[in-house]
Amino acid sequence: MKTALLGYGVVGSGVHTLTKAQPEHGVTIARMLVRRDIEAIRAIATRDFNEIVSDPSIETVVEVMGGEEPALSYVKAALRAKKNVVTANKLMLSLHYAELISLARENGAHLAFSAAVGGGIPWLTNLLRVARVDSVESLGGIMNGTTNFILTAMQQGGADFAETLAEAQRLGYAEADPTADIDGLDVRAKLALSCDAAFSQMADAAAVPALGIRHITAADVALFRQLGLTCRLIGKAERTEAGVAAYVEPTLFAADAPEAGVNGTGNVISFRCTGLGAQSFFGLGAGQSPTASAVMQDLIDTSAGTTAFDLARCNGAFIPDASSARHAYYLRTAAALPVGLAVRPLGKTPAGNACITKPLPVSALHALVQDCLAVGGSAFAAGLA
Ligand code: HSE
Repeated sequence: MKTALLGYGVVGSGVHTLTKAQPEHGVTIARMLVRRDIEAIRAIATRDFNEIVSDPSIETVVEVMGGEEPALSYVKAALRAKKNVVTANKLMLSLHYAELISLARENGAHLAFSAAVGGGIPWLTNLLRVARVDSVESLGGIMNGTTNFILTAMQQGGADFAETLAEAQRLGYAEADPTADIDGLDVRAKLALSCDAAFSQMADAAAVPALGIRHITAADVALFRQLGLTCRLIGKAERTEAGVAAYVEPTLFAADAPEAGVNGTGNVISFRCTGLGAQSFFGLGAGQSPTASAVMQDLIDTSAGTTAFDLARCNGAFIPDASSARHAYYLRTAAALPVGLAVRPLGKTPAGNACITKPLPVSALHALVQDCLAVGGSAFAAGLA
């Protein structure tokens, strides 16, 4: 299958290496769209996407540039030209999912994106398959390696957030602009995509409330250790009587929970179904080899003429309801709290008083944290699993 690669960064070069190392799969990278001159790939490189989209011999385009544009324009043009697309771009997909699925179907092309959630973990493909025969009640877990690295390092080393983020950037885990990871936006996009696989409807990512880990302090983590709890950033979607609740927030787990044992850049994502019960998928959610491996799986399936993503139903988008899920929280803030909210005071920290709250709707707690941030300068909350 003659294939073009858009982007020759960490993932793109990994995919190229894998296709060359495994010629038995019949996937040949025949063209590459790159921004700089790289001697090793000069013979097949171009800076002009039109050379790729107008080449009838290219059957499949792999988009691993990331970002919304120009990736979106290229992917749409490729689908309109009846080329299959394999992408790892969760941001682009979460913003334009329905349009891209429709374009693929109208043009008889495959659109596959295993690598968009969980890196090398076969998460979306298995979720799509299980949803064929069972009813998914809930899904979620650790979907971001960068924040898991930071939380693990803070738990194990006692350092503060800023210093640990700088270390994650030095090691190449966190981006120079870490916003998408530390504010939970990367998890939000992955959760929204997972909702389509599970519930046949995309969650409107912008409507998923997300609390990140930007405001966590070493004193918060020291309190978690005293309580025997471990903090992880979680994306969760669950069926409730009111529909589907979806949210992203730090969550505290007891030592025997699978999430507490997933350290560093690891991910663990689980689903619970009516018939099958619960299944969890552990592994590396980011990095060159895991992500390239997931892209390669999609290429092999595409070449064979069928992919798990052909099952995606995408019956429009829904506004997730975060008011129908409720639980208690750890809350630390310098702001005054409404009377009766705190049920267990945990004492003073340098950045405010900490407590365990009574059970609250997720949407109410998220709004409260935004209010506390507005008046108190700092606030951190984590749900109790
Ligand atoms: N920034 C993401 C992470 C990369 O840390 O998990 C993979 O989506």
